Amino acid sequence: MQFDILTGSPAQAQVDCLVIGIHEQGELSLVAKAVDKRCGGALSRFLKRGDFAGRLGETLLIPAFPRLKATRLLLVGQGKAAAGKLEVSRRSWRKAQAAAVLALTRTKIVSAALGLTRPNLRELDDYLYARSSVEIAAAALYRVNAIKSGPPPAAPTVAKFKLAGLKPTAAATARRGIRHGLASGLGAHFMRDLANLPGNVCTPTYLAEQAQALAAQYPSIKLRILEEADIRAEKMGCFLAVTQGSDEPPKFIVMEYKSEKAKRRAPIVLVGKGITFDTGGISLKDPGAMDEMKFDMSGAATVLGTMKAVAELGLPLNVIGLVPTCENMPSGRAIKPGDIVTSAAGLTVEILNTDAEGRLILCDALHYARRYKPASVIDIATLTGACVIALGHHHTGIMSNDDALAQDLVASGLRADDRAWQLPLTEDYGEQLKSNFADMANVAGRDGGAITAAAFLAKYTKGLSWAHMDIAGSTYLGGAAKGSTGRPIALLTDFLIRSAAR
Ligand code: BES
Ligand code: MN
Ligand code: ZN
Repeated sequence: MQFDILTGSPAQAQVDCLVIGIHEQGELSLVAKAVDKRCGGALSRFLKRGDFAGRLGETLLIPAFPRLKATRLLLVGQGKAAAGKLEVSRRSWRKAQAAAVLALTRTKIVSAALGLTRPNLRELDDYLYARSSVEIAAAALYRVNAIKSGPPPAAPTVAKFKLAGLKPTAAATARRGIRHGLASGLGAHFMRDLANLPGNVCTPTYLAEQAQALAAQYPSIKLRILEEADIRAEKMGCFLAVTQGSDEPPKFIVMEYKSEKAKRRAPIVLVGKGITFDTGGISLKDPGAMDEMKFDMSGAATVLGTMKAVAELGLPLNVIGLVPTCENMPSGRAIKPGDIVTSAAGLTVEILNTDAEGRLILCDALHYARRYKPASVIDIATLTGACVIALGHHHTGIMSNDDALAQDLVASGLRADDRAWQLPLTEDYGEQLKSNFADMANVAGRDGGAITAAAFLAKYTKGLSWAHMDIAGSTYLGGAAKGSTGRPIALLTDFLIRSAAR
């Protein structure tokens, strides 16, 4: 995919297709106005016939009018515009922009100029307008790596975009946004490909191989894979407890990205939950929708995708990616409810529910993070169904022992339109994890389940600046739209870009 800003008169752009915004009362986006003028009002005359109402997200592809260089026009509905003013909300603009690119993917068009009405500068500045446009296009161009027989479906032809609506003085800012959007889009594609794979393909070994390929592609990433014996040497008793019921060997993936420009900077550590399939173990899950537990490595995929974006941009940062990865299976060797194991930090854990396995692999990885003397540690995990109950599919849950870090992540979520919401994490929740037999239990009942899971992790992150992102609801969708959403790559990429600038 190529992206650039449109310079010169949009009506004379040398592209296959001009994408123009039409509002519900017939108002035209600025580019549409220019088109109309150039072709002597032919566009307004066409719209007067009433064939296109301009409802939000509607599209209509028509042959271009005379005197335009493009061969087609794509009309895109932008819904109601505020009386007399060409104003659209950020949300409606995203919807229209996504619908536009999706419509283009169903044609043979190769190059297109995007000329929708954009939100005003206060809602979306030039940088974010450019970056978001690229991210939206990248997401619309994503195709699932489906494993189907027969000839593969034709890939979309559209590959070259020019973005209108930018003043010449904003060119450098917008180009920076484009560069960042391309990297974040690349990271999201990588993530979605991994997360969408079935558990019999995407095993811990496969994830380790993918990390290897990433390190081979980017010399700025150093890789180390800890095998089972190494994991034992690190005394990661909780991680080993989860993997012991599985025939697949576990891996602990360590990726170290270092920029020459940031040698002495304290690292940011990202920790991703990498359960390549979560059956629940002996506390077996219900069969309905159990297939979706192949997405239980989405935190791991987020870390790999984010590392890719960071390396692609060469950010002046020091970023460590840690991925504990294994399966959670029932078997004669599996852990049982009531078993007590010792974590790498030395704390003992009574495993009351083998389905609360994510926190067990994460607590040992979070302990491992200490050796880096990190500026901050962020774990990303499909940790609880309770988080889906609390926030649905729209927000990622954030819990932290550092409010400034949490709010910084929430701010990135807003900037990237990859939203997150902070949930409270006070001492009270930790008290629910009391065990009669060990230092703590791994579950605390149904109430406040997303937070008690975080409270468990908090016992391992004392003294660190740490945030936990529960992406169980946001990172994949079920039903007809089943698949990875690529979230929270955009949020984390924004967070790291802003960290690099500080
Ligand atoms: N991977 C699941 C969480 C999950 C559930 C993600 C639904 C996405 C959708 C996690 O390992 C799990 O099973 N959590 C349990 C915790 C409980 C036993 C305390 C849960 O949420 O039910
Ligand atoms: Mn589970
Ligand atoms: Zn799980």
